[in-house]
Amino acid sequence: MAVFLGIDIGTSGTKTLAVREDGTILGSATVEYPLYSPKPGWSEQQPVDWWDASVQSVKMVMKAAKLKAADIGGIGLSGQMHGSVFLDKSGNVIRPALLWNDQRTAAECAEIEKLAGGRKKLIQMVANPALTGFTAPKILWLRNNEKKNFDKTVQVLLPKDYVRYRLTGEFATEVSDASGTLLLDVVNRKWSKPLLDKLSLDSSLFPKMYESEDVTGVLSDAAAKAMGLNVGTPVVGGGGDQAASAIGNGIVRAGVVSATMGTSGVVFAHSDEVQVDPEGRLHTFCHAVRGKWHVMGCVLSAGGSLQWFRNQLCQEEIAAAKKQKVDPYELITQQAAAAPAGSEGLFFLPYLTGERTPYADPNARGSWVGLSLRHGKGHMARSVMEGATFAMRDSLEIAKGMSIPIKEIRLSGGGARSPFWRQMQADIYGSPVVTINAEEGPAYGVALLAAAGTGAYKDVVEACKATISVVTKTTAQASAKKTYNAAYPVYQQLYQSLKKDFASIQALL
Ligand code: XUL
Repeated sequence: MAVFLGIDIGTSGTKTLAVREDGTILGSATVEYPLYSPKPGWSEQQPVDWWDASVQSVKMVMKAAKLKAADIGGIGLSGQMHGSVFLDKSGNVIRPALLWNDQRTAAECAEIEKLAGGRKKLIQMVANPALTGFTAPKILWLRNNEKKNFDKTVQVLLPKDYVRYRLTGEFATEVSDASGTLLLDVVNRKWSKPLLDKLSLDSSLFPKMYESEDVTGVLSDAAAKAMGLNVGTPVVGGGGDQAASAIGNGIVRAGVVSATMGTSGVVFAHSDEVQVDPEGRLHTFCHAVRGKWHVMGCVLSAGGSLQWFRNQLCQEEIAAAKKQKVDPYELITQQAAAAPAGSEGLFFLPYLTGERTPYADPNARGSWVGLSLRHGKGHMARSVMEGATFAMRDSLEIAKGMSIPIKEIRLSGGGARSPFWRQMQADIYGSPVVTINAEEGPAYGVALLAAAGTGAYKDVVEACKATISVVTKTTAQASAKKTYNAAYPVYQQLYQSLKKDFASIQALL
């Protein structure tokens, strides 16, 4: 049986997974690298670090799983989305890449909206509004601020597509990741010539477009030698990390939605037709399933809010957990479980790093509202978990409002590992939630895309059917559901009441 490699170029490190055709994981290795923030709000990495980590992690997996070069049937690439790698005419990197979480491009977002003829026109062309994290404003930033570097640039690549270039020598991308550049005609799955023209960007700057399971090239001599693999090994398109992760969760048909509670929280819904939120709150991107789309909401600090709570306010629990040899989250969750649903009127807004969905507001801040003498640490812990989950519900509600069917919610990330948080999610979302057998995220998804793209399966939908199954199901409890349904509108109103104050607070800094 052939083995497929999934390589995920993440923000903290690159993870390579070896997956057998039947879905069995044979090995996994992660190699980390630094992130640089030369100025407040800037976020950069060195593309060569991604390449070195890819080579190293592939070698580690091959060795650990005792695989031979001839076992590898294909490679899939996934990665952090929206980053921009600028290459000169010799294929050399011109400057460090600007990442998805870089916030320097507010002026360029306004410039794009203006050049496009307004926000509405922009959404009509590329299905999304301009957000600071997206790629197009980064390119304009280079033109506005580092003209010499811009003039040298002949190719702009996304992070995983830079690794593809080093693997195959090809300039290529695929529709799911390209959607996050803000330069893709998402409806027609090709670069948007009208927007490129309005922004005076030459289409030769951008790589060839593929569907995610298409073979985009094969391993070159140099890459094969570096990795100890065979020359000619096929490399498929793969996907941006969110679409790839969705494939790894089996989100490949209408009605199946994922809610991933990691540091950030992502709600991802498959859609057979292209569906656009006219207000631009949910992203509408091409899916890694051929000819399909998805909508996606991204909560910047979901699990990250509980992590902040643990790190700042739970030193006692961390010390006790160490003694008991358990995870500190277990002790925090026990305290949270002792408080009632709704935390007796205590609300937490999880906007610790500003927010993306549903409010694209960098000024928004975390807040507790409703504290009284009655509240203790358990209430505070519970309210943080509830606030993060309400924020995820915001995205589900917008999707419902767009008539996107939600029949099954698949949970993943840290929030899916805790039975308590699974129950809370079922109660707040008001519908059953399930978990599945696969927990490996984007690297697993692109290994399946490689299997499908090289003929082991008819397509990626069939690959998911053969490898992914539901393992737990949690249904909502009537009384908690009722409590949360009453609390949710109050939670929503709190941002509206506070948003001006958030801006005033920012102005003080
Ligand atoms: C997706 C997004 C993040 C990055 C980094 O829109 O911004 O998921 O891809 O993981």
